[in-house]
Amino acid sequence: MNERVLITGASGFVGYHLVEAAVNAGLEVYAAVRPSSEVDHLKAFPIQYTQLDFSSVAALQQELEEKQYAYIVHAAGITKAKEAQEYNRVNAEYTRNLALAAVQAAIPLKKFVFISSLAALGPISYQEKSPITEESNARPVTNYGKSKLLAEQYLAEIRNLPLVVLRPTAVYGPREKDIFILFSTISKGLDPYIGKGKQRLSFVYVKDLAKAVMQALESGVTGTSYNISDGRSYDRYALADVTKRALRKRALRFHLPLGLVKGMATLSELFAGSKTPTLNREKISELIAENWNCSIARIQQDLHYTPEYDLEKGLTHTLQWYKANKWL
Ligand SMILES: NC(=O)c1ccc[n+]([C@@H]2O[C@H](COP(=O)([O-])OP(=O)(O)OC[C@H]3O[C@@H](n4cnc5c(N)ncnc54)[C@H](OP(=O)(O)O)[C@@H]3O)[C@@H](O)[C@H]2O)c1
Repeated sequence: MNERVLITGASGFVGYHLVEAAVNAGLEVYAAVRPSSEVDHLKAFPIQYTQLDFSSVAALQQELEEKQYAYIVHAAGITKAKEAQEYNRVNAEYTRNLALAAVQAAIPLKKFVFISSLAALGPISYQEKSPITEESNARPVTNYGKSKLLAEQYLAEIRNLPLVVLRPTAVYGPREKDIFILFSTISKGLDPYIGKGKQRLSFVYVKDLAKAVMQALESGVTGTSYNISDGRSYDRYALADVTKRALRKRALRFHLPLGLVKGMATLSELFAGSKTPTLNREKISELIAENWNCSIARIQQDLHYTPEYDLEKGLTHTLQWYKANKWL
């Protein structure tokens, strides 16, 4: 693949791994970043940078025509915001603008991959025997999930867009900053939970996700959405158990009442000022959801996606990276 790809959100956690995978696939990479974006960690890659005005379809169209992209991977998005409006503006309206510009522009576009989220479909109940599939009814439990669903609905209305939607479950790996808080807490000897309910959780290692995106670019498939995880279901303690083994640490397991954690989230939102803290009231709805187990049968069949990392293997690599880079 010796063609040009635009990767939005390139400065973020997933973006870094998308850039790496695209460079390794022989693509000519344009990383879309903001003037304020931290890009030092991308310096080692032989890539170009560009800035996009996501609020203007005309400006986006001009940019796309100038660069003549064959592929667009849209990973820019916000996972924390104070208001539904903010989520919708960035995650849904900006996505629609980029897609509209992509179909209006005279460019040789072969694929537009949108990084949505399993949160767009939302969780199911613990008792549910079957996992979440692409056919499951969408019942997002957060404004974040709703904004991703809205983005998908907007995209579905745009004719002639060579679209593939990927809906990753919780993504972990080197450079990730939110689940990292849990690793850091465990390394300090604490293993906290919200409430005592049972959970079925799913995860995907970021390099498996990046590989799936490359497979989506190469594939002839369009107009399809895929849920993506490592294909397994884990109980709520699996992440901590693997982490403790890998770090060779003991940690005190304890369960905080939901009401208390909600209070803590409210306080941290108050003290965070204009920023949204990692522990916010919205996030709690996703953290306590009973069942995020999802089927990957469709992506396995269509894109020949085979996850290489289960939690044990992926976390071992991840924790090694955090240690080597002095995060832990
Ligand atoms: N991490 C997960 O578990 C997970 C799971 C499912 C789906 N996803 C999706 O994957 C994508 C990447 O997530 P991530 O975990 O890599 O998050 P991240 O590290 O926070 O990266 C987000 C990226 O989006 C950019 N961005 C945010 N707001 C923007 C705006 N208003 N205009 C332009 N760019 C903006 C950021 O730029 P700056 O660097 O300048 O802030 C950054 O490059 C998101 O769409 C997210 O919804 C993530």
